[in-house]
Amino acid sequence: MAIRLGDIAPDFTAETTQGPISFHEWLGDSWGVLFSHPKDFTPVCTTELGYVAAIKKDFDQRGVKVIGLSVDPVSSHERWENDIAETQGTKVNFPMIGDPDRKVSNLYDMIHPNASDTLTVRSVFVIGPDKKVKLSITYPASTGRNFDEILRVIDSLQLTAKHKVATPANWKHGQDVIIGSSVTDEDAKKLFPQGWKTVKPYLRVLPQPK
Ligand code: BEZ
Repeated sequence: MAIRLGDIAPDFTAETTQGPISFHEWLGDSWGVLFSHPKDFTPVCTTELGYVAAIKKDFDQRGVKVIGLSVDPVSSHERWENDIAETQGTKVNFPMIGDPDRKVSNLYDMIHPNASDTLTVRSVFVIGPDKKVKLSITYPASTGRNFDEILRVIDSLQLTAKHKVATPANWKHGQDVIIGSSVTDEDAKKLFPQGWKTVKPYLRVLPQPK
């Protein structure tokens, strides 16, 4: 069944390149990103894993654990990681789930039969500390993902989890934000005593809260 925003991310046990994990236990109180690859030893996936390894510090800074998955076994991931280090200049520094029996792929609906009966598509799930799914994106196999966009969304999710604001189109950390539409002007005065700019009664803009 499709996983929807706000659903509890299904729990599972799996073999990974960093040993067996129980997913919820592995997440602990952290945010998490679970992302799937169609197959090992493929070009787009090789560049994606190299890039995520290079920016892992940016996920760490945000308190986000990253974990990859493909339908190949862990022994294959381990051999492939040598190629990734050689060609992308970065050692894979996060666990990769081996899912040869498609247990996790099926649980997360990562196999889309109109694309392929057997391979996972490029799914991304962002999971909050409450284990709820906050974002899901599905890319086709032929399109490498923009992981800077995933970090940008995480910045927005973490900000809006703390403050009653929303973030506008193409927003980046540090830019102006919007007061959530459920917040009345009366409540906004208490929440944002520094004030805001009313562009329209429904479009109230203020600097990003600290
Ligand atoms: C790739 O990673 O390059 C790839 C994998 C499966 C299908 C198409 C491309």
